[in-house]
Amino acid sequence: MKLNKYHFVGLFLITLILACNVKDTGPSVIDLKVSNLLSKMTLEEKIGQMNQYNGFWDVTGPSPEGGDAKNKYEHLKKGLVGSMLNVRGAEEVRAVQKIAVEETRLGIPLIIGFDVIHGYKTISPIPLAEAASWDLDEIKSSAKMAALEASAAGINWTFAPMVDISRDARWGRVMEGAGEDTYLGSAIARARVMGFQGDELSSNETVIACAKHFAGYGFAEAGRDYNTVDVGSSTLFNVILPPFKAAKDAGVRTFMNSFNELNGVPASGDTYLQRDILKGEWNFDGFVVSDWGSIGEMIAHGHAKDGNHAAEISANSGSDMDMESSLYVNELASLVKEGKVSEKNIDDAVSRILKVKYELGLFDDPYKYCDAAREKEVTGSKEIMDAALEMAKKSIVLLKNENNILPLKKEGQKIALIGALASDKNSPLGSWRIAADDNTAVSVLEGMQRYNGNTLSYAKGADVSMGKTEFIREVTINTTDKSEFPEAIATAKSADVVVMVLGEVGFQSGEGRSRVNLDLPGVQQELLEAIYAVNKNLVLVVNNGRPLNLSWADENVPAVVEAWHLGTQSGNAIAQVLYGDYNPSGKLPMTFPRHVGQVPLYYNFKATGRPTLPAPGIVFWTHYQDVENTPLYPFGYGLSYTTFNYSDMNVNNTYAENKEVSVSVMIKNTGSVSGKEVAQLYIRDVYASETRPVRELKGFDLVDLAPGESKLVEFTLTDEELGFYSNKGSWKVENGDFEVYVGGSSSTTNKSTFELK
Ligand code: NOJ
Repeated sequence: MKLNKYHFVGLFLITLILACNVKDTGPSVIDLKVSNLLSKMTLEEKIGQMNQYNGFWDVTGPSPEGGDAKNKYEHLKKGLVGSMLNVRGAEEVRAVQKIAVEETRLGIPLIIGFDVIHGYKTISPIPLAEAASWDLDEIKSSAKMAALEASAAGINWTFAPMVDISRDARWGRVMEGAGEDTYLGSAIARARVMGFQGDELSSNETVIACAKHFAGYGFAEAGRDYNTVDVGSSTLFNVILPPFKAAKDAGVRTFMNSFNELNGVPASGDTYLQRDILKGEWNFDGFVVSDWGSIGEMIAHGHAKDGNHAAEISANSGSDMDMESSLYVNELASLVKEGKVSEKNIDDAVSRILKVKYELGLFDDPYKYCDAAREKEVTGSKEIMDAALEMAKKSIVLLKNENNILPLKKEGQKIALIGALASDKNSPLGSWRIAADDNTAVSVLEGMQRYNGNTLSYAKGADVSMGKTEFIREVTINTTDKSEFPEAIATAKSADVVVMVLGEVGFQSGEGRSRVNLDLPGVQQELLEAIYAVNKNLVLVVNNGRPLNLSWADENVPAVVEAWHLGTQSGNAIAQVLYGDYNPSGKLPMTFPRHVGQVPLYYNFKATGRPTLPAPGIVFWTHYQDVENTPLYPFGYGLSYTTFNYSDMNVNNTYAENKEVSVSVMIKNTGSVSGKEVAQLYIRDVYASETRPVRELKGFDLVDLAPGESKLVEFTLTDEELGFYSNKGSWKVENGDFEVYVGGSSSTTNKSTFELK
């Protein structure tokens, strides 16, 4: 056999790999493959890898004839596209992949991204609802199922989880995250990353995850989407960044930066965030994608002079891939030639992207996600549907249940079901359900009809309208038409119990859907009051993507059930809870205000110098004149069909000897049915060199208890829970007094103390 230059390269690689393995240091096999491939690429081909286009061509139909789509198609054929988003379905993905692999010079496969936010075709509860379960195993399994279904449809990269902490219910995207708390948010970030990515990145049943939006997006001023973010460094280090760090530590392979500016610099051009923190201090070795067009948006922000300047800032600041602005593909080559962007920076970005493609196994088999038969078999399978139902039940939060009006009786009750949302099969899918077919959710009406021992009558009462599609953001709210009230009132009058399903339609929360009003939309509040006037045995089921102001309902209506947008299995889950086949155990992951004027309202606020009312009538303390400071429902709050008692709190402070404080508490099920309690531990660092919040969640445990049963729950606090980041970003644990609380919500009064010395 005659040896050629490839044999020598091969031999060289093998020797290097062996040498590295012996020492167990140095570059991995994948790193070597990456640098080998990189050495063969032209500058244009490298920049192509940094370019991501939205699906531009119906590959199963006619090819594009002109304009933007034609350009993009030409770019794809020339190897100037590294990734595409919103191409989906095994056949469609295969068609674009075929062009990348078979028609370009180097045949580098595409990585295919999609917003698999809470399910792909089978929709699980919105992420905020899933967070209400506090059930990390179930959340992980939900992400795993989403990955299974999406990967069968050709997708290998989801733009999830969104790990933005959000404290402002006006912001529409609170539906997409894990709520207001950093500790819970970090735990959920880890669970979601592990669920999506699994143990084996190269398996064709998993997708890589993306921690977004880096960083600060949830702190948009006044809750208005895309708005300016201006936060202090204590909030940045202690509240905003930890869930991203948790995602990184769980192995997340990509990050997405953000539309917002943070303290004067748009996130897509932020060197401090991307190079210093993420790739420097945290040593993240995956890649960063921009948000949609966010590189170009730096012009409107007033940070870049023009597109050329925007590309320069972004590439230098560490944004590795350009989603949809075309600025990298159009501007980077000349910027490199002019010396404004170094080829070293380009090589770094491309290496990161290629590395992830190798990890996914795309170079071994670019069509591994493109099996139409598997897609058919997996989509909507029983396993996935069952998981969606389980997750939906666990996401429901019981907010009020006076006189045990719930559960409903399975027989002998005349039940009136009222509200347009009760029969809606689309709205429960919520926002971010791009691949789901319309009207595929089980409605509450259908769910309740399965329990046919009762007489169930239904009346709409008033219209709500979902709008046309996810992207044509029209939600028409009926604010005037009460013509169907009389029929609903008559239906309610003759019933033993009325169940009303009211709230937001699925597209009323999500991206670009901020609201200044947190009341029940349209004429629904009037409908609620009109029905209550004729029948006080009323159960309100709320559908929503954000905390709403439920003050009137809380004061008047005997039972309130928080049911969010629960996805495909919504109606079945709600019916099982209403009829008592499932005992609700969800706890709120966000504070519910008494009034929109209180937001941002969150449990882990800082005390002021005038924190509590010294005497009635005193004006000069921190308060509003017209609404009290407390929330309607605090973070961590939720009821059950049984009751729990906390006792025997014991603190074992061995910090001086072994840096640990352990806390135990006895929890007893004091009711007559089995139930699950989310026991929550909060600390307060009473005084510190930089002030700490009045309470901080530092542990939780899900405890299943039969009637009368007790269990001892134990928590361990170490430096990780007891410390905080200084304003300069360094970790500190300070001696001094601490309070510790363990109970069923953030407002528990079950308290003890300890001192660190
Ligand atoms: C914009 C959103 O902010 C981001 O979260 C999403 O992943 C991209 N669009 C792609 O759809």
